[in-house]
Amino acid sequence: MNPYIAEAVAAMDKVPLSRYEHPGSWAMDPASCRFLAGFVRALGAKKIIEFGSGFSTLMMAREIAPIEGNYLLSIDSSPKYSAMAKEAYETSGCQAKVDFRVAPLRPRLYGPRLLLSYSLPKGLLEALGPFDLALIDAPHEDYGREAVFYDVFNALAPGGYIILDDANREHMEREYVRSWQSAYEGSIDPILLEGIGNGIGVIEKIDDDTPLYPRAGSLSSSIKTLRNYGRLLFSSGEKASVDEEEKL
Ligand SMILES: C[S@@+](CC[C@H](N)C(=O)[O-])C[C@H]1O[C@@H](n2cnc3c(N)ncnc32)[C@H](O)[C@@H]1O
Repeated sequence: MNPYIAEAVAAMDKVPLSRYEHPGSWAMDPASCRFLAGFVRALGAKKIIEFGSGFSTLMMAREIAPIEGNYLLSIDSSPKYSAMAKEAYETSGCQAKVDFRVAPLRPRLYGPRLLLSYSLPKGLLEALGPFDLALIDAPHEDYGREAVFYDVFNALAPGGYIILDDANREHMEREYVRSWQSAYEGSIDPILLEGIGNGIGVIEKIDDDTPLYPRAGSLSSSIKTLRNYGRLLFSSGEKASVDEEEKL
């Protein structure tokens, strides 16, 4: 078994997390939070990036806080939920360096695949990295999770890891992992931990690589992207971020 996974699984029951502290079903499952904290510790991660701000931010920040030069970049598509996560973090008393950023989700082409992607300035992630760990926990409704992997891959150190939440879902995360395997082949090593929360994907980046975006499923992915983008524009959080963009 992967040594970091083994250590995290052995340590997770001892990670402190009271049921009064856990905010609810929109956040990562409590067992997944515990595994995540155990994994950050086992890996000795110092620089982390996450997509989907919230309770996971605090769980990871607590682990890196004692390490000198720690940094957590927390990206969210919603100004409202990013601000809520920032406030919760700032009142927690944790001293890790956490940078909250808002980046709206927009359709973008990855080879033949039209996917929802967090719109960030080109080269920003590479400039702020290399990261030891990336957490993908974008909104549950199938927004942005496949593209994040392609966006963050170059900003991750070889030997670094990507953790994917809700990894058991058949027509979403399991499908994304198959696409990533097809795009990166031997340059990544994915492991699915089905029994933790809603499934946790732990994917090691073995080496730098240029993805060969898969053709298979690209039409249905692109149609899904357009449908989800429409839904997103009608949701209040995203409307706020579009309004913000229009003011700039
Ligand atoms: C799957 S949630 C998880 C967020 C974070 N990783 C966690 O574990 O708490 C992902 C998205 O839900 C949204 N969100 C955050 N707080 C929320 C809340 N209180 N209610 C509903 N959605 C929320 C955010 O836009 C975030 O990107």
